[in-house]
Amino acid sequence: MDKEREYLSILKDMNRKAYAPYSNFKVSALLVTKSGKIYTGINVENASYGGTVCAERVAIFKAVSEGDMEFEKIYIYSTDKDGNHKITPPCGFCRQVMVEFSKDMKIILVAENETIETDIETLQPFLFDETYLK
Ligand code: THU
Repeated sequence: MDKEREYLSILKDMNRKAYAPYSNFKVSALLVTKSGKIYTGINVENASYGGTVCAERVAIFKAVSEGDMEFEKIYIYSTDKDGNHKITPPCGFCRQVMVEFSKDMKIILVAENETIETDIETLQPFLFDETYLK
């Protein structure tokens, strides 16, 4: 199996592990770092809704906590309450977290019969980053 197919298969398998009892919207993310490692994430919801963390940030924080901070690409996949898989762009918080580490990373949105490849420049123009704090 080539790498891309392997990543997609892991991404789809992982989706079942999403902890989304409140929204029933299950998201999985697979992050590939420039070092060649992969980190997976699922959304983890909470009865206190604000405590929820998206799949993308779970994957990113796993990588960062291992000292792996340069990202090549992230795949995002979702299943809605009816079992459908639609293109799911990352939320604003996740975009901002991506900006922090790798502005040049690819963002790959995977649906049933469609894949959209995009990037931070497209999703987060005129962004806030560390340069404003200097
Ligand atoms: N969610 C993600 O995990 N990633 C996204 O890109 C969009 C939203 C989660 C958060 C929450 O658990 C559920 O989807 C509904 O918003």
